Amino acid sequence: MSVRGPAGFVARWLVNYVLGIETSCDETAAAVVASGDKLLSNVVASQLKTHFRYGGVVPELASREHLRAIVVVVRKALEKAGITYRDLNAVAVTQGPGLVGSLLVGVTFAKGLAASLEIPLIGINHIEGHIHAVVLEERQRGGEIPFPSLALVVSGGHSHLFHVERTAGDEYRYELVGRTRDDAAGEAFDKVAKLLGFGYPGGPLIDKLAPFGDPSRVPLPASKMKGNALDLSFSGLKTAVLRHVRASNMEAEINARRRLFAEGPAASFDEVRASTPQATLDLIASFQQTVIKELLRRAMRAAEERPVESIIVSGGVAANSGLRARFQSLTLPVYFPSLSLSTDNAAMIAAAAYPRLLRGERSGLDLRPQASLALGAA
Ligand code: KG4
Ligand code: ZN
Repeated sequence: MSVRGPAGFVARWLVNYVLGIETSCDETAAAVVASGDKLLSNVVASQLKTHFRYGGVVPELASREHLRAIVVVVRKALEKAGITYRDLNAVAVTQGPGLVGSLLVGVTFAKGLAASLEIPLIGINHIEGHIHAVVLEERQRGGEIPFPSLALVVSGGHSHLFHVERTAGDEYRYELVGRTRDDAAGEAFDKVAKLLGFGYPGGPLIDKLAPFGDPSRVPLPASKMKGNALDLSFSGLKTAVLRHVRASNMEAEINARRRLFAEGPAASFDEVRASTPQATLDLIASFQQTVIKELLRRAMRAAEERPVESIIVSGGVAANSGLRARFQSLTLPVYFPSLSLSTDNAAMIAAAAYPRLLRGERSGLDLRPQASLALGAA
């Protein structure tokens, strides 16, 4: 049983249960975090089956699926945490960026819940959430990430580099120092996978196939940026892969694979690997290595420009094993979330809300979803 103070007052020494809700894209998620550092439950309902046949997320279908799932997902998160609605001290919800119709489901539900329970509502930036997935897990292990830190958030929607400072009062300040000018890193993984006839989302499968190829076999171009050298671009790389596919007469192989993936994820990984020619595995390995090199180059340069004590890598692409291995070989301490907190989840939203809750920050019931909500002034 938690204890709530007078309106707006949240005592640091009491156990505070924050319910996080995340519906920015194609995952309906709810989680309970106690006192900012204990993850009590983390429930994620994936819509993969709904969107798979379209080769990407269909916004209208995503909103409908969120509506269907949200009540059950929240109830499960409370059950797993061993608490009831009445025990909650605050509701945190993703305000943006994301698909506006999807965000609206989470925001509306969170508002209703906060109003009926008479507890604070806190709107959270999804990108800030990804960073706090790592802060949360490090605290849960009893450690603290040393700040200032360089945070690389790489997902299906974002490839952003932030310089992050933390004040003594546990307040986080974000400065956007680099970003993608076109495709996000996860989007590049998904588009290349789709181009090669693999299903959606392509990142996890490319990750598993890449170790079977030779990354030095297909020369692919690194991007050349005018202006901010910390910015990223992946559309040229995607075009280079397309050109290679056309020049290598891969159409028949790709069409056969499209049939294999037409109805859903292929039966087994071994089957997929066995039916993928070595030349394609080499292309996949070369593509993945190029993406990793691009991200590593920007992160190292950013860390030289502004001294940092650590690097945080988060977002769906942070699940990539090749990326993890390369970043972990750096001399700076590098922090990744566990695999389940790399991709979208609500634990990161609840964790990001906790320091704000303690500082008395609240969102009004006029909180609106914002599809392009920014984090950190450039
Ligand atoms: O963070 P996330 O779940 O959703 C967004 O906020 O976008 O990230 C999803 C993205 C997808 O593009 C997916 O292909 C990519 O993360 N992804 C990966 C891996 N797991 C997920 N990319 C590369 N390697 C992985 N293991
Ligand atoms: Zn995300």
